[in-house]
Amino acid sequence: MDLTLPKWYDLHTHFRQGANVGLYVADHLAMGCAGALAMPNTKPPVSRISGADTKTARSIEAYREELFEAGASAFDQLIIPLYLTRETTPAMIVAGAESGLLRACKYYPPHGTTNSEHGVPMDEWIGGEVFTAMEDHGIVLCIHGEQHGLIGSAYFDAHQTAESIFYAQTLPRILEAHPRLRIVCEHITTAAAASFVTGAPDRVGATITPQHLLYTVGHLIQGLKYHLYCLPIVKFESDRAALREAVMTPGQSKFFAGTDSAPHTTKATECGCAAGCYTGGCAPQLYAMAFEEAGADLGSDAGRESFTRFLCSNGPAFYGFEGSKETFMMKRETSHTKPHLTEDGPVVPLPYGMGLTLEWSIAAS
Ligand code: NCD
Ligand code: ZN
Repeated sequence: MDLTLPKWYDLHTHFRQGANVGLYVADHLAMGCAGALAMPNTKPPVSRISGADTKTARSIEAYREELFEAGASAFDQLIIPLYLTRETTPAMIVAGAESGLLRACKYYPPHGTTNSEHGVPMDEWIGGEVFTAMEDHGIVLCIHGEQHGLIGSAYFDAHQTAESIFYAQTLPRILEAHPRLRIVCEHITTAAAASFVTGAPDRVGATITPQHLLYTVGHLIQGLKYHLYCLPIVKFESDRAALREAVMTPGQSKFFAGTDSAPHTTKATECGCAAGCYTGGCAPQLYAMAFEEAGADLGSDAGRESFTRFLCSNGPAFYGFEGSKETFMMKRETSHTKPHLTEDGPVVPLPYGMGLTLEWSIAAS
């Protein structure tokens, strides 16, 4: 079976910085990706709008230039959110919006994930002038929705997790305090988050990664498959089922692709494991496998329609740009991934790390 689709958009990915950026961007282009939202958790973070990089801050303008030089100028969209830090001011939001460089801002829970130590607790933003300036200028708030600072037993327990707590206690307060703010709930992993987004007004959307549609925490623990370790961590079967239902609901407009592809050159360390799964080069194949596992027939009009909405059209509609007029083709043929052997260490794609054969391949872009 062949599947010809419009080129798609990855509305949450990590291209990092420095020597390997070109590899990661090339992997995205090779999988029919027309545009990307490139996360700002570089070192130092992308926490300014324009001007030269300094020791403590990069600018959207300078990071964009780096990505362009590494091949990202071939994308028809490149959104770089501003990392919300203690440096962020309402004036920066206004200037960023007026210059056209700023389209989104990213909230990281302090110390909640890779390079998130510059994040400021959500309570300090709610009701404040930065979010109000974002509302006034149509700047999207991208949220890593996990309650920060919890002890282990509250962070991940059978009946609640850092994510379910965030969606129960914190997100409703943001919506109430900022009635015009557009929000993307990023890489959601729980039934609680999926149901929150479904019931929220249209100004709230969500991205879902391939790994959260394919796997549960059991897959991670059985054999300690650390290549599947990302944050928020994969959850339970009932959560995966809720995410699958969310993406498969006919006509749904809120859920869209954001791979959270996150290359790490050192994954396991002596005192833990870097969080992030690399899905560059293989994300549409993984999403297709997840849709099929969830019961979609990608050969039927209905199956193709729900897959296309999720992968290619809902994301652009939410961010307010046109979907791609170009196409790429997937074939129902098995394929394999292999690590990038970089000077800093190997970057292992998730399927390779999981011993997974892809049931699809990319035929042409
Ligand atoms: C991301 C990374 O490696 O930058 N890691 C992850 O586990 N998802 C950061 C993030 O998006 O949380
Ligand atoms: Zn991410």
